[in-house]
Amino acid sequence: MAASKLKPLSAWMAERNSAYYKSASTSIYDDFETYAQSPKGLLTCANANAFHQWALLHPQDSYNVLETGVGEGAFALGFLTELAEADREHGTQFSSMLRYTLADFSIPMLEKAKTRLAREGFGGQIEILEWDATHPTEFSNSSFDLIRCNELFSDLPADVYVRSGEDLFSVNYDSDLQPQQVPLPWEALSRSEADLVRALPADYHLPINRAAKNAILFLSHHLAPEGRFDIFDYGFYRAEDFVIPADMWNLSLVREFNSQWTVDLNFLYLSASLAEAKFRTRVEPQAEYAEIYRDVCSRQPVSKKNMQKEKSKKDGKGEKAKKDGKAKNQGLDYDEESEDGVEEDDFFYHMEVQP
Ligand SMILES: C[S@@+](CC[C@H](N)C(=O)[O-])C[C@H]1O[C@@H](n2cnc3c(N)ncnc32)[C@H](O)[C@@H]1O
Repeated sequence: MAASKLKPLSAWMAERNSAYYKSASTSIYDDFETYAQSPKGLLTCANANAFHQWALLHPQDSYNVLETGVGEGAFALGFLTELAEADREHGTQFSSMLRYTLADFSIPMLEKAKTRLAREGFGGQIEILEWDATHPTEFSNSSFDLIRCNELFSDLPADVYVRSGEDLFSVNYDSDLQPQQVPLPWEALSRSEADLVRALPADYHLPINRAAKNAILFLSHHLAPEGRFDIFDYGFYRAEDFVIPADMWNLSLVREFNSQWTVDLNFLYLSASLAEAKFRTRVEPQAEYAEIYRDVCSRQPVSKKNMQKEKSKKDGKGEKAKKDGKAKNQGLDYDEESEDGVEEDDFFYHMEVQP
């Protein structure tokens, strides 16, 4: 079938991802696997223990936790299971003091998550909420002690730009994900967007994740004064991320899973936007974040097999991407295991936001 006409990436993502996630027949973990999918994975364990430590320092009668983009509930299940485990170890009761809200724009996802969590004994603690991150509506809770999110923002509509010398181009895509550059005046970007595109290397396609930025800002305004917002996703932040040659980078920036399109997060853009709005942010590789809790989480076997499995959404378009040679990690030591069993984890970042 011939590829269709070119459109901005945001138009493709809005159209495809809504249809994909809202379909009752979608089974996301048949199409890709997220870092959260292993219910007792390292990331969820680290996040639950980080919250446990925070709660020890912030005694309250109850705690409000919000998760957005919940999938089939794996990230929530890992967190609630680990928090209960930390409570048992420390003689605390934070897990029974939680009000845990799962927000997603897909009713089928919410229903699957609810069923799974109820089956595991957490039905009494959770609430589900239909909520679209691209048109965020108010919550009945005005503030949250913890907002957590794994691999949602890379699914929100974003647009892509590239600088060639002094010239700016918009990168549009056909239905086969083939990019084509269209000249664009610099004035089409905001001042800070233009500054960022000028500061980053030429010839690299750069996502400007505006819907993600707006959703993150909206959510950040719903943090309790001492609250934390933990964002786990993949994208780029460090100079060394640009070690990949531009042509390979450009072919793997947007990936397809079944019919769903996902794009890297520009953490430089996100953290600069949050700083402009006076929020504090910290961005670190997920491996570094998880490493802090390695001892407490080591009761779980951190097998290379599990870590590889948990990474595969970033790895590319599943089998299709591997076949096409478009996986961003190709040619890098992405899967190498260090002496202590924690693997190299390039492109997976944790961004913490604080008021
Ligand atoms: C890649 S899955 C991640 C699921 C889960 N966090 C995990 O790690 O396994 C993305 C999730 O975000 C949800 N999502 C995508 N776009 C959304 C939007 N605009 N508003 C709210 N949820 C959205 C999808 O329905 C899906 O549940």
